[in-house]
Amino acid sequence: MSGVEDAAGVLSEVSLDDACKLSSENKEANASPKDLVVTIGATVPTGFELTAADEVQEKLGSKSLISKDRGKIYFKIPVTNLPQVHKLRSVDNLFVVVQEFSDFQFQESKEEALKDLEDLVKTLPWTDPLEVWKLNTSLKKRKTKWKKGNQKSNAKKEKPEDAIDEEGAVSNELSDPVPSVSESAEVQDPGSTDEMLPEEEEDLSDSKEDITSNGENKNGSGDCKKHEMKDEPLKFRVTCNRAGDNHSFKSNEAARDFGGAVQDFFQWKADMTNFDVEVLLNIHNNEVVVGIALTEESLHRRNITHFGPTTLRSTLAYGMLRFCDPQPADIIIDPMCGTGAIPIEGAAEWPNCYHLAGDNHSLAIKRTANNISYILKQLQSEKGTSPSKPIDCIQWDSCNLPLRTGSVDVVVTDMPFGKRIGSKKKNWDLYPSCLMEMGRICRPRSGRAVLLTQDRKCFLKALSKVGHLWRKSHTIWVNVGGLHAAVYLLKRSAEAFERIASQW
Ligand SMILES: C[S@@+](CC[C@H](N)C(=O)[O-])C[C@H]1O[C@@H](n2cnc3c(N)ncnc32)[C@H](O)[C@@H]1O
Repeated sequence: MSGVEDAAGVLSEVSLDDACKLSSENKEANASPKDLVVTIGATVPTGFELTAADEVQEKLGSKSLISKDRGKIYFKIPVTNLPQVHKLRSVDNLFVVVQEFSDFQFQESKEEALKDLEDLVKTLPWTDPLEVWKLNTSLKKRKTKWKKGNQKSNAKKEKPEDAIDEEGAVSNELSDPVPSVSESAEVQDPGSTDEMLPEEEEDLSDSKEDITSNGENKNGSGDCKKHEMKDEPLKFRVTCNRAGDNHSFKSNEAARDFGGAVQDFFQWKADMTNFDVEVLLNIHNNEVVVGIALTEESLHRRNITHFGPTTLRSTLAYGMLRFCDPQPADIIIDPMCGTGAIPIEGAAEWPNCYHLAGDNHSLAIKRTANNISYILKQLQSEKGTSPSKPIDCIQWDSCNLPLRTGSVDVVVTDMPFGKRIGSKKKNWDLYPSCLMEMGRICRPRSGRAVLLTQDRKCFLKALSKVGHLWRKSHTIWVNVGGLHAAVYLLKRSAEAFERIASQW
């Protein structure tokens, strides 16, 4: 946890002014494209911004800034680190920042406010972000080619919450500044898999040519210059995410007018579904961030091929695992694993730990087994050897686990909310029994539990009954499929279970 706490010390809810300063420093130095340092924006599970920032610091050595807009972090990277950015486990979507305005003065009248947004387009520093987009696209093409034959593509692009109009504009309206309810932390369907696989090493050496060959775009004043990418005009769309009460316009209007100006400026062609470039216009009160998307769909769509009714996002699973600070040789169990999102992510990222997944439902166990076996098969076809992962799954009752007392280091689980799985009524029996059982199997003093639930009242009541076994350490508030849920970090007390059991 120390990493997260350290990150908390250096991060604050600040604007991106520093990051933008850096982008203009680059221009002054007229750096060659491969030396570019750019600002990347990442959407992350709400509540886990610090965890994501901590991962960025650890893996890329970059400090992050956390936006006022919850669920987003920003960090600077040399463009050569782009493949590593796609390997981050806590980020859902990535974009390169074109420019950020921390205090954009919106005019009161709708026409004037929209005209200002329109006028903005030709003043923005597009050149470097478009270089990054091009590099990203070339990496992705190579990756997709490599993956063909290994993986069947479910090229289903769903944006059911988006309102699409006919002028290159997609809008996501948020009337208040809380996280979007459309930011579901649960996934129902498998999505397209034609994105970069995090496991694969990427070498930028081929791609440097790409950037350099387009270096002429950077010469001269550059930023406001039209970008000739190729003979055919690029297809694009603008997506506007807006939150805040003080805007005289709607997000679809902003996206439409901004999109019109992008079209005029670049001579690109608007296409809502089959676009090359997705321009993002994120407006949160007076903060405006213009970006270019680097992911076609969320990076949380990894690991799972056999979905269940409440499959957890892999990014959220990663955040929960990281929250309990796994140590080498730790035994980590998910006693209510569903489709196995948590232990599968655990086995991928903490291979020095042993991960045990269990559920009382036979279908859940079947799905988990299938998900594990799919990953192993994939690894086998990639590497040509028989891979193994430190993970097993078993059918059991989480209130009566076939495990020795004090034998487990960590429990990480996503408990039934009592909505799609189980019922609130059943939770009144289930929660105290399984908290007690978790207390039995976890090592006194060092044992930890990270538990996700939306049934907070029932959870806290159950916890009060086993207060001798568990201490509540931290709580993170998360948005799970539009539901306000909590992730509790519990620490096992030093009390031996046997002695306590007699007091129960
Ligand atoms: C919210 S779901 C977990 C979803 C999972 N994280 C995933 O990604 O698929 C809760 C799970 O708890 C399981 N469950 C409910 N009561 C249980 C019990 N007494 N013992 C074991 N599993 C139980 C359900 O079958 C369900 O799969």
